[in-house]
Amino acid sequence: MKIVVLNGSPKGDLSVTMQFVAFLAKMNPQHNLKIINIAQQIRHIENDGRKFDEVMADIETADGVIWAFPLYVFLVHSHYKRFIELIFARNKTEVFRDKYTAVFSTSIHFFDHTAHQYMRGICDDLNMRFCDAFSAGMRDLFKSVERENLLKFFRGFLAAIQRKAPCARQVKPLELNNPEYVPGEAVAPTFVHSRSIIIVTDAEETQVNLLRMIDRFAAQFAERPQVVNLRQVEINGGCLGCIRCGYDNHCAYTGRDEFIDMFNRLKTADILVFAGAIQDRYLSSLWKTFFDRAFFNTHMPNFVGKQLAFLVSGPLQQLPNLRQILEAYTEHQQANLAGIVTDEQSHVGETDSALRELALRSLDYADRGYKRPNSFFGVGGLKIFRDEIWGPLRFPFVADHQYYKQHGVYDFPQYDYASRIRNAFLGLLAKIPAVRKELYGPKMTEYMVRDYKRFVEKGEHHAGLDGSD
Ligand SMILES: Cc1cc2nc3c(=O)[nH]c(=O)nc-3n(C[C@H](O)[C@H](O)[C@H](O)COP(=O)(O)O)c2cc1C
Repeated sequence: MKIVVLNGSPKGDLSVTMQFVAFLAKMNPQHNLKIINIAQQIRHIENDGRKFDEVMADIETADGVIWAFPLYVFLVHSHYKRFIELIFARNKTEVFRDKYTAVFSTSIHFFDHTAHQYMRGICDDLNMRFCDAFSAGMRDLFKSVERENLLKFFRGFLAAIQRKAPCARQVKPLELNNPEYVPGEAVAPTFVHSRSIIIVTDAEETQVNLLRMIDRFAAQFAERPQVVNLRQVEINGGCLGCIRCGYDNHCAYTGRDEFIDMFNRLKTADILVFAGAIQDRYLSSLWKTFFDRAFFNTHMPNFVGKQLAFLVSGPLQQLPNLRQILEAYTEHQQANLAGIVTDEQSHVGETDSALRELALRSLDYADRGYKRPNSFFGVGGLKIFRDEIWGPLRFPFVADHQYYKQHGVYDFPQYDYASRIRNAFLGLLAKIPAVRKELYGPKMTEYMVRDYKRFVEKGEHHAGLDGSD
């Protein structure tokens, strides 16, 4: 069988992901695995029509297509995203229709599920026959159980093609019917403030709703926020995945374009607003470039304690996966999500008031220094980073290690002697049936809140928190 592998790594053949594919090819010599380096060659593919057509021809003649990519910042690499955009922009979706497909990724399992959900949606939008997905840990090739699993996945995929397995779609096509946003009467710029507010966008002239949202939001402030349009920033390419930044956050692009200076400027703002339009099931590939290129900061948060807000034009209500990415991104930056406003509101004036409220809230939260506690996204994700940077990724991510040491990210081993003594003592007592009955009886709930009750009743920790504003 001919299986086309669409390689999403900017490192081309020298990619970890492709070593897994090379293993599959070696173990299945009777099949032809044709690898196309999509992310690495995107400029060529985009600018040379013949090259693009060649890729399409390969897909057309394939029995199956594997989307094989490394995780890049909650999703696929910006160049891979661009390729997906080109398929739609050049009306080539028919090439993919009814093709059997599977998704394969390598990562450290940090939001691999959002990248997979995105790709699942894309495969459904392309009317492909989606068989299966496999998210490998980047070192899993060295584990015999995982290698076997990988082979089973691949052979299962081939078998599904052979038996012409029926494949149900998982997500509905997007309904793209957002109303035109027509702002109401001009507002007076009432919010006097001393905050630094920066709006980052990739808005184009034709994106009327997005431009109007930005304008309406900005118009609320006595001092207009600064607007940075990514289209006017010199960005000479996507993240290379070279990890040169690992040692001291020195990016391979240093001095070669304006991205790093622009990004470092954002770190000085109190309130950041990211404004973009949905393209397929994410924002644009330019926005993806922004997120990827920010990786020169490696696994450290960039916007600690800042207010972050999003203005999104497009069907975000139909894309909970994208919403999750925006929320999780904010948590990982240790910023506070002031809000997300879209142009989906159906009543006249709703978007106006949502934008006004967002402006007010951003200032209010900034003044209070409010930061919502992290959810599973932030808490769980940081534990993945902690373990990776402590262990296998300490080299090359030397700068992360220093930062994690200094900022208490390494919260292990958990000495916590008080808990250990209590656990040992109660663990022993619980072995006695009569005591166990007592311990696990109605007293348990009482016991669980005992310390909390004492804490609240004592009241000595409430000083300064009883303001009534
Ligand atoms: C810029 C950058 C961003 C990354 N983002 C993620 C991520 O969001 N989640 C994750 O689990 N791994 C992430 N990784 C790790 C890669 O997915 C992983 O190392 C992968 O195996 C690299 O494959 P490749 O060599 O084929 O490019 C990232 C790596 C880089 C360089």
